[in-house]
Amino acid sequence: MAKIKTVYVCANCGNKAAKWVGQCSVCGEWNTFKEEIEQKNTGISYKSSKIKIAAKPKLIKDITYEKEQRINTLNAEFNRVLGGGLVPGSLVLIGGEPGIGKSTLALQIAVRLKKYTTLYVSGEESLQQIKLRAERIADEYNNCYILSETRIENILRISEELNPDIIVIDSVQTVHTERSDSSPGSVSQIRECTVEILKYAKENGKPVILIGHINKEGSLAGPKILEHIVDTVLQFEGDRNHIYRILRASKNRFGSTSELGIFEMQSNGLREVTNPSELLLSRNEESVSGVSVSATVEGARPFLIEIQALVSTAAYGNPQRSSTGFDIRRLNMLLAVLEKRAGFRLAQKDVFLNVAGGIKIDDPAGDLAVICSVLSSDINIALPEDTCFAGEVGLSGEIRPVTRIEQRISEAEKLGFKRIYISRYNTKNIDTAKYKIKIFGASKVEEVFRSLFK
Ligand code: TYD
Ligand code: MG
Repeated sequence: MAKIKTVYVCANCGNKAAKWVGQCSVCGEWNTFKEEIEQKNTGISYKSSKIKIAAKPKLIKDITYEKEQRINTLNAEFNRVLGGGLVPGSLVLIGGEPGIGKSTLALQIAVRLKKYTTLYVSGEESLQQIKLRAERIADEYNNCYILSETRIENILRISEELNPDIIVIDSVQTVHTERSDSSPGSVSQIRECTVEILKYAKENGKPVILIGHINKEGSLAGPKILEHIVDTVLQFEGDRNHIYRILRASKNRFGSTSELGIFEMQSNGLREVTNPSELLLSRNEESVSGVSVSATVEGARPFLIEIQALVSTAAYGNPQRSSTGFDIRRLNMLLAVLEKRAGFRLAQKDVFLNVAGGIKIDDPAGDLAVICSVLSSDINIALPEDTCFAGEVGLSGEIRPVTRIEQRISEAEKLGFKRIYISRYNTKNIDTAKYKIKIFGASKVEEVFRSLFK
């Protein structure tokens, strides 16, 4: 094989260097150097006779297409995130931290699809290990082939002969191609392999599910271009110590990115959670202080989730602030609002906040529930059990309107809540009379406190 020369190219300005450098000497940017293979200039211009023209431009009105037939994966949550099933010829990337359940999810889909032939390629586990796992998650697995192979050329040749309906490749970091000398998992290997896989998927019209690891920073290991090449990027997240897992699309050429799939990791694989609210609310027999319920929307999906706070006098030194599932900076800001606008003395108190089920919430509408749970714990009075909250809190203690308010109200009503606190601005656009649940519109946090603890 010819010796391949690699160079390092600045992704920002295109400056080349023989060795990797931290800072570009031309544009001054840091950490922009990426390894690339030195290409020889072939000297072909677009006027050259060597270039054959295959494609012709077409008027957009003349382009016809058949309605795509999606493959139903028999997994309602997975279908939902994909936008209604796997599109033939599409390349789907599932990314996530180690041990979160990527292999389990992919294998589960592969073995449970009886109508289709599937090929599960693993570069990480042996055939016996995969069989053991398959035994845990399914009773029958007729049409699923397992292959333990890491050379991409072999994988694709075998696929072409076997012609399965769906291919799973676990993982993109373990496969390699002979065309690049770099080690598996390096930038150029990942890029070359993904391009090859994409070519296979498009030419044969078969969907390929690709599994990718996540690096320390939480983005997909390997180059960002991986995300550009594939059609769909799904992120599998959750806390490894909890049973809930969330699958969300961060890119989807064939559907919306606002859908969300929720799973529960059990001893026999991942169970689909179709009604998350019922699991995420613990509904204690007796009411405890510091617990509130937030009517959140993640993606396009409303669910109610319990937020717990514990406020206690700091025993020594600086008071601690700790939060799981909620942004700590946002918590600090909300505590400052409580202190300044509502006159609560929290500066000398420890504050711990926890979102139930190991779920992380990004929804700003969680603010009001967080504030109320902190307050409830501080004064040690439980909040009414049948009450929930949905509102963003601003720096002056004002309650700001949030999106999808009607969905939140309906979900709360469906779960039997009697009262919901929202922003007064939100009440203007909805017909409060059509709901059985009592809607309380407030413009300041003090109004909510007065109404709750009168
Ligand atoms: P895995 O799919 O191997 O994770 P990944 O491919 O993302 O690295 O899943 C790993 C965890 O899931 C492992 O710690 C064991 C657990 N697990 C279950 O709880 N139940 C099951 O049925 C299976 C197969 C795995
Ligand atoms: Mg795995």
